[in-house]
Amino acid sequence: MSLVSGPGKASATSSRQKLYPEKHIDYIKKLDSRKDELEYWLTEHLRLNGVYWGLTALHLLGCPDGLPRENAIDFVISCQRENGGFGAAPGHDAHLLYTVSAVQILVTLDAVDELETRGLGGKGKVGSFIAGLQDQETGSFMGDEWGELDTRFLYGAFNALSLLGLLDLVDVDKAVSYIQKCENLDGGFGVSPGAETHAGQVFTCVGALAIAGRLDLIDKDRLGGWLSERQVDNGGLNGRPEKLEDACYSWWVGASLAMLDRLHWIDGAQLAASILRCQDPEAGGFADRPDHAVDVFHTHFALAGLSLLKFEGIAEVDPVYCMPKSITSKVFSA
Ligand code: FPP
Ligand code: ZN
Repeated sequence: MSLVSGPGKASATSSRQKLYPEKHIDYIKKLDSRKDELEYWLTEHLRLNGVYWGLTALHLLGCPDGLPRENAIDFVISCQRENGGFGAAPGHDAHLLYTVSAVQILVTLDAVDELETRGLGGKGKVGSFIAGLQDQETGSFMGDEWGELDTRFLYGAFNALSLLGLLDLVDVDKAVSYIQKCENLDGGFGVSPGAETHAGQVFTCVGALAIAGRLDLIDKDRLGGWLSERQVDNGGLNGRPEKLEDACYSWWVGASLAMLDRLHWIDGAQLAASILRCQDPEAGGFADRPDHAVDVFHTHFALAGLSLLKFEGIAEVDPVYCMPKSITSKVFSA
């Protein structure tokens, strides 16, 4: 099953001040039937992520049953490796980022128990794979056995482990201290200590601190200021100063502001209008910018951004987990 592919273009005409939910639902549902297209094969390295993006987008569009549940579970399980982690597609090496998508999909489908019956072990096996990626020296996380450290992996580990109820498998305090070392003078965070602030990395560090219950460590006004400066003249958001806007930063920046209770520091109406300009009103889907080719990654994050803005007709998203709020509320109230 793939949800990563698909031609189509966002056009810059005025018909895009409204949302076309049916077109987006169709676009996502059809992604898996495009196996004859080169793009399908070129994006094999993202397939499990693609299922998470497509499934979550369908939930936000009010179509939670849009993907055949059993096929989706079978596909996720077919990506599991002996070490308990998941690869991007069957036969691919396990990596933390695909493992996070696998957990998010199974949780969304209320199918974590299937790991016991159809997988290579229960959720504990997945938890041990993730916990084994914590770097003992720094407290940060690697993506796989090759050892690269990145705050994306730290956030991913916290996201998946907490969804599974297994956060106590890792040293949370040590990871939190590592995040503090990644903080810069502008209030933001980079990929590692000393690295430039980047809105994607800000999301991962704020998200990880939210999961650890340590948002108190953030200078919310300073970081909120840096994040709100990401809004450019046309209403869109960029990821760093001097960069062009991109619909996915509606999520990385918007969710960070939401977690800091500062989403009202940007102009929501202008942002929503800029996101809508990125949709293809005929073939469905969203692109990074108007007139660019649409893809499922930007479709998911554009819809998630609209959800943060409480756009009419879109279900509520959880700014910490980037999953439907209806799902995470159930998991964490249990
Ligand atoms: C921008 O990337 C985004 C990031 C660096 C954050 C990515 C976070 C994850 C993969 C963690 C998992 C996320 C979720 C929601 C479960 P980019 O490569 O587009 O950056 P660029 O704009 O500088 O090219
Ligand atoms: Zn983007």
